[in-house]
Amino acid sequence: MRIFLAPMEGVVDFSVRALLSGIGGIDGCVTEFVRVTHTQLPEKVFQRFMPELNNNCRTQNGTNVKLQLLGGNAESLAINAQRAVNYGARAIDLNFGCPAKTVNNSDGGASLLRSPERVYNIVRAVRCAVPSDIPVSAKIRLGFEDRSSYMDNATAVAEAGASELCVHARSKADGYKPPAYWDYINRIREAVDIPVVANGEIWNLEDFKRCREQSGCEDFMLGRGLMAHPDLARQIKAHIAGEEYQCLSWREICTMLHNFHRGTVDHYPEKYMGNRLKQWLMYLRRHYPEADVFFEAVKRQRDAASIERIFDEQYAVIS
Ligand SMILES: Cc1cc2nc3c(=O)[nH]c(=O)nc-3n(C[C@H](O)[C@H](O)[C@H](O)COP(=O)(O)O)c2cc1C
Repeated sequence: MRIFLAPMEGVVDFSVRALLSGIGGIDGCVTEFVRVTHTQLPEKVFQRFMPELNNNCRTQNGTNVKLQLLGGNAESLAINAQRAVNYGARAIDLNFGCPAKTVNNSDGGASLLRSPERVYNIVRAVRCAVPSDIPVSAKIRLGFEDRSSYMDNATAVAEAGASELCVHARSKADGYKPPAYWDYINRIREAVDIPVVANGEIWNLEDFKRCREQSGCEDFMLGRGLMAHPDLARQIKAHIAGEEYQCLSWREICTMLHNFHRGTVDHYPEKYMGNRLKQWLMYLRRHYPEADVFFEAVKRQRDAASIERIFDEQYAVIS
């Protein structure tokens, strides 16, 4: 069984991938999407999205990272995939799931699911453009306006030669509204002959068990659930191995957040000081009630000293 960390634009960047994969239980990561239009992207763009290119496409603890591309022009995607491989990428993932209006209006992401033929052409073009030892995978939703095209798009991906398919079990119209329709993934899994990765709405161990049962999958991708519960993958792996597992305490999470904040503070302009920390606390609130209190205390703080003071106050309350 494998568990992957989902790509999340504006959330799961290099530092979050390093941190979460360092906690353990994660078998692979995917970068935020790199938007491909008609230009040939320079190396620095790939480097910006994937600093792991300098580390043999691995996070600090050695977890593999795939580069994700998004676009609607098969030829341009093929050229840029090839360029990315020349710059060191070792696996390419194609995004057919993004629901954002700006992306869909400029012909990318989930809007392509309206035409399985285009999905096929894109996967085929990229598959043919990169060496055969470079895996090309795709990430889809179940459809655009509704879920009726789910099988056509899934088979298009498989027939075009993709090595793996990740299915976020909702249509674009379903947005992020629960539930996720895991039973659709089961039908896809039975119909295609490539590994199928189940994704969507796995927030805790119970969700995982239900997703596994309904999808029949052995591979899973977790996004928001790992942000809310950073050791969820470890808990799931321990469950599968029949081992006892003690989830990370709020104190351990606080230390993790503190390291994350200190390690990333220099990467962002001063006016965004603390924004990533606040964003992460919003996710953590779902699993740790203490994160709510922390968030309320930190939300108006915009300078390094004030944020450090809030951390000190947290530690004082915990110990
Ligand atoms: C803030 C945010 C950004 C996302 N960015 C991407 C992305 O860049 N590429 C992609 O394929 N999916 C992206 N997704 C979708 C996730 O990878 C995943 O499919 C979705 O969140 C459902 O899984 P989850 O319930 O485990 O979070 C994003 C989701 C969120 C919430």
